[in-house]
Amino acid sequence: MSPTIRRAVIPAAGLGSRLLPLTKATPKEMLPVGDKPVIEHTVRELVNSGITDITIVVSGGKSLIQDHFRPNPALCEQLREDGKEGYADAVEEVAELARRGHITYLDQHGPYGNGTPVLNAARSFGDEPVLVLWPDDVFVAEVPRAQQLIRAHEQTGCPVLALMPMDPGDSQRYGVPIVKEDLDDGLLRITGLVEKPKPADAPSSYAAIGGYVITPGIIDELREQTRLWYDRREGEIYLTDAINAYAASRAVYGQVISGRWYDTGNPADYLVAQMAFALSHPEYGPVLRGLVDELDGERPGSAANIAATL
Ligand code: G1P
Repeated sequence: MSPTIRRAVIPAAGLGSRLLPLTKATPKEMLPVGDKPVIEHTVRELVNSGITDITIVVSGGKSLIQDHFRPNPALCEQLREDGKEGYADAVEEVAELARRGHITYLDQHGPYGNGTPVLNAARSFGDEPVLVLWPDDVFVAEVPRAQQLIRAHEQTGCPVLALMPMDPGDSQRYGVPIVKEDLDDGLLRITGLVEKPKPADAPSSYAAIGGYVITPGIIDELREQTRLWYDRREGEIYLTDAINAYAASRAVYGQVISGRWYDTGNPADYLVAQMAFALSHPEYGPVLRGLVDELDGERPGSAANIAATL
């Protein structure tokens, strides 16, 4: 069994352009889903999965992320003086979460592309495998997604990609894995990824969803991609290219994640995530359900509306 994983990287330097103008001043990682910013869901998942070393790769305009996780003793003292113990506890609990995850921040530099933040963070990895999670995905799962990925790596000792079953019509939004062998418990041996193929060209019905166990061999491939980039100085450094170069001669696995997946990176899916978390909140959920029923009752053709006319 391979040693377990204790480090993770969250690339959070992107512009969030699909959510503009909402993300002009507020980083997309700080938009709320339920009663927490998106990135806090990911940090909680990592800490609950035993990760003790989290690097968040940021760019200019992302200081709200740091502010959110930084302790604020003056605020907490004030809240306690005012008798608002519950709020003070909640603020301190987030700082404690950051402390348990040993969050550090790294400024993005180098060529564009989703491989660059991973390579920037890799300087401190040594020979260890790491988890890389895009900050757009939020999971509700009995076993956290991060733990499912760690388990697959412990079993195989190889790089692992988080996969979800995909609606064939969505293939042009995702990397689609080439599946060589279907093993037990959602573990798949894969030979590479095709980025955003047309539905007719999709090699399988799974989507890569931005969760990876990256091993030192993939980092070597990213270095090679970056060296080539500096020769030509155009295009971007993609993690997928490094994974494909690695998979040409070595084993890579996919883990189909069990759980519910919410993508928060575009307006429609973000609203779905918001709605789902709000509806399942123990305190606010019932209020919202009442509102949904009320609005549904006003909708022409709704069951409640028809019943009222009978
Ligand atoms: C990236 C990856 C792609 C993956 C997607 C998931 O694409 O290259 O393989 O399916 O993230 O969000 P991007 O959406 O950054 O273009």
